[in-house]
Amino acid sequence: MSRRGLVAGNWKMNGLIGVADSLVGGILDGLAKRAGKSVCEVLVCPPFTAIQSVGKRVGGTAIRLGGQNMSEHKPGAHTGEITGQMLTELGCTYVILGHSERRSMYGEDSALVSRKMASAYRDGLTPIVCVGETLAERESNRTLDVIGEQVSAIFPNLPADEAKRQQLVLAYEPVWAIGTGKTASPEQAQEVHAFIRKMLVDKLGNDTASKVRILYGGSVKPDNASVIFSKPDVDGGLIGGAALKAEDFLGIIDGFPG
Ligand code: 13P
Repeated sequence: MSRRGLVAGNWKMNGLIGVADSLVGGILDGLAKRAGKSVCEVLVCPPFTAIQSVGKRVGGTAIRLGGQNMSEHKPGAHTGEITGQMLTELGCTYVILGHSERRSMYGEDSALVSRKMASAYRDGLTPIVCVGETLAERESNRTLDVIGEQVSAIFPNLPADEAKRQQLVLAYEPVWAIGTGKTASPEQAQEVHAFIRKMLVDKLGNDTASKVRILYGGSVKPDNASVIFSKPDVDGGLIGGAALKAEDFLGIIDGFPG
């Protein structure tokens, strides 16, 4: 497979600076013990207030830094918002966009998520665009329609540059699996990932589609990571709860060597 695995920790609204520092310290120690082994790409996305201190710890290491959200707007009168440039200034190279919590609690729709993606690219960040269906949507057999709508929305705002398109990361996070302890079965995950891959092939061509990474998120733990990651279109994980314990996060990283 030509895609490098990526395991990303979404710390959500957790981690005062001291806690964030010791968490990233634990991850760094664990990765140091794995030196010489083949390890996937590792990303941490702390809350905004801890990005700077975590960034100081991970600067010059293999750990990448990301934000959990950003504004679609350029700098200006947008109280409470932050720009992509503010993230890059702190060392972020990634930003999570359209997480289901933002869609359901803060009214973000696919069109807004798509505009945020364009702004992320403009500001030099690699977007991780999240998609996923609710339990009601799955139970009424609408999973692929919902995913289709969410993924289609990104195409009009993708940059023309092929290399930038290939950097795009998508994350399939079934809403019913987030923080519930219920994981999609590896087959359920693969079905949706393959559907997304096919959409990418149809719209962007084989070459680009084969480079875009599609992560799975939703109750990934050390004991289920490797079986989910073994599926051909699953290129890594977006981890919530288990990313808050260094040992668990490292266990998940071990599930996706290289
Ligand atoms: P959990 O791993 O806690 O289910 O959260 C997944 C998630 O929402 C990551 O973005």
